[in-house]
Amino acid sequence: MVVAVDDINIDGKTLFVRCDLNVPLQDGRIRSAEKLVRAVKGLKGYATRGARLVVASHLGRPQGIDKTLSLRVVAEDLRARMAPHHVDFVEDCIGSDVRQRVDALTEGSMLLLENLRFHRGETMNDKDFALGLRQASAADIYVNDAFACVHRAHASVAALPRQLPCYAGVLLSEEIQALQKVLGGDKRPMVAMIGGAKISTKVRVLMSLVRKMDAVIIGGAMANTFLAAQGYALGCSLYEANQKETVAAIRQVATQRGCRLIVPVDACVQDGAGRTHHVAIDAIEPDHKVMDLGPRSVHAIKDILSQAATLVWNGPLGAFEIDPFHEATQEVAAYVRARSDKKKLVSVVGGGDTLAAVAQGYKGKKTDKEAETWGFSYASTGGGAFLEWCEGKILPGIEVLEDMAQNVKEA
Ligand code: 3PG
Repeated sequence: MVVAVDDINIDGKTLFVRCDLNVPLQDGRIRSAEKLVRAVKGLKGYATRGARLVVASHLGRPQGIDKTLSLRVVAEDLRARMAPHHVDFVEDCIGSDVRQRVDALTEGSMLLLENLRFHRGETMNDKDFALGLRQASAADIYVNDAFACVHRAHASVAALPRQLPCYAGVLLSEEIQALQKVLGGDKRPMVAMIGGAKISTKVRVLMSLVRKMDAVIIGGAMANTFLAAQGYALGCSLYEANQKETVAAIRQVATQRGCRLIVPVDACVQDGAGRTHHVAIDAIEPDHKVMDLGPRSVHAIKDILSQAATLVWNGPLGAFEIDPFHEATQEVAAYVRARSDKKKLVSVVGGGDTLAAVAQGYKGKKTDKEAETWGFSYASTGGGAFLEWCEGKILPGIEVLEDMAQNVKEA
């Protein structure tokens, strides 16, 4: 149980709002603004209720100050979306300059702070850095609206809310309620579909998914690592050569738990001359690079999904940003939507890249609800956070809000 900011009076108060404005960038421009559309929904509401907003986020994973990961580009985008509320930007997140700009904030306007991760204290969950954020922002209240970050024990997520009255923002409350409702039923068979590039960042989650799910489908470049570990030659494809033992361990747990592990049987590859071909996994040439799933793999996935009652999906199945390697992701997405529409499947999709990939191929109507779920039962903004939620893990950003709710109850 968390206390929602909706339940308190914020008129005239200064709110420190932790958002997830970690948008994908390409050549310095925002490639997909899905996260901003969602964030604005919460922020506009607080501004309309008369609060002053000090908004903070990370962008990417910088090691120190990296101007290519400045949130200025996000502030510029937010100006139009937040109108008529004023949006200001400041080039740091702690210190006296920030404090001066906060002091100049009027009710209903917002100040976006520079990338939190330009300071090491953020990822180190440093209490003093959190104190710096509190002092610079002069906040009365802390609001977490960044579901995608609640699995990070970072200063703006975990340490700072221990120093202020803290509440769940509108978006965070919505995500928690929706995930509880959609996944609470535990409808079986349950299938997880995991794509993206790296197995090493998702090992723990894969281990836990093969323990819990009836089937786990592996796609994206991560599938290459599974195939390489099985001894297939993958030409010039991306894969992690040092993950053989990890793959073996995941396979062993899957077998013990009776979880089917589905890896591709064919691929869409690009050759040295830039031509594309569909080839079987055992027919990949030295100049081939795997870019997407092939049609037989897509067919096998649909077959598994035709028997599933619940699907949890994180990670695109191919290099969806490059035409035509979005095809497998979009074909599977269309199939999942159709089954969800007929109420045959509860489908939850999550993660920034995954939302961008499924939004790209969405041809449905755009009512507010559909635009947010892209035709699935639910679309979560969280990637890692969403998966850790599905694992049933304690998430530091939610734990602190629950502690606060408990304290309020006991007082
Ligand atoms: C996300 O995009 O999933 C969140 O912004 C978290 O980003 P991180 O994995 O860099 O912490």
